[in-house]
Amino acid sequence: MTTPTHLPEIALDHVTFGREGRVILEDISVSFCARRVGIVGRNGSGKTTLSRVIAGLAQPEKGRVSVAGIDPARDRKGALSTVGILFQNPDHQIIFPTVIEEISFGLKQMGHDHLDAEKEALTWLTDYGVAHWAEASVARLSQGQKQLVCLISVLAMQPKVLLLDEPFSGLDLPTRAQLSRRLARYQGTLVHVTHAPEDLAGYDHVVWLDQGRVAGSGASADVLAAFVGEMTKKGEGNDLTDLSD
Ligand SMILES: Nc1ncnc2c1ncn2[C@@H]1O[C@H](COP(=O)(O)OP(=O)(O)O)[C@@H](O)[C@H]1O
Ligand SMILES: [Mg+2]
Repeated sequence: MTTPTHLPEIALDHVTFGREGRVILEDISVSFCARRVGIVGRNGSGKTTLSRVIAGLAQPEKGRVSVAGIDPARDRKGALSTVGILFQNPDHQIIFPTVIEEISFGLKQMGHDHLDAEKEALTWLTDYGVAHWAEASVARLSQGQKQLVCLISVLAMQPKVLLLDEPFSGLDLPTRAQLSRRLARYQGTLVHVTHAPEDLAGYDHVVWLDQGRVAGSGASADVLAAFVGEMTKKGEGNDLTDLSD
């Protein structure tokens, strides 16, 4: 099968990232060019850190990161239209008091003037059937509604790559189904970070992280089968009692 050439390549070359003297990502080398990509691993395996590195929000001390030909940590302006990220917790993402301000912000950063950014933001809200949220205070929204605001903010910037960090955690089933439907419409590369392999059924490529290292990277069916096998084995063991160093 040939890879469609319009898809951006994401490549990490010997990437190492540490915090407070501790290595969190160790010698990560992966590359993929696919429409639907999963990053799977246990809690604490480094998934969030890896997604922040790909988004350019964290700069590795060793190695190189390339997303659609740019280094997202060094080229912050280029990164705005190249890679968007939806944080796990919308409260960590939202900075403005009203919905329209929140959604316009990214557009202004991309160079739209104030009026133009608000007009564009309103078009996106209308498209998602929530134009009536425009002047609402974000604090009044539910978690699922806040997450939708964050998603619309990121989509409005039309990034080539959209990273989602555990997008379904904390959402009830109907909200989850609605979010899935919206994500299915996204034409770019979706990188979905999750500890739950069932979220990644039908994906094109999966990277499996284990203790900050790549345990597998390839066709999703193969990597997910290996991951589930290993997790089942671990589930039968007793490593919950282990203290991590
Ligand atoms: N800012 C930080 N300072 C120190 N340790 C961190 C920091 N961020 C993450 N870690 C540690 O790095 C490891 C990986 O974290 P994370 O990337 O959040 O994993 P995951 O998203 O897979 O649960 C965890 O052990 C976590 O405690
Ligand atoms: Mg995480």
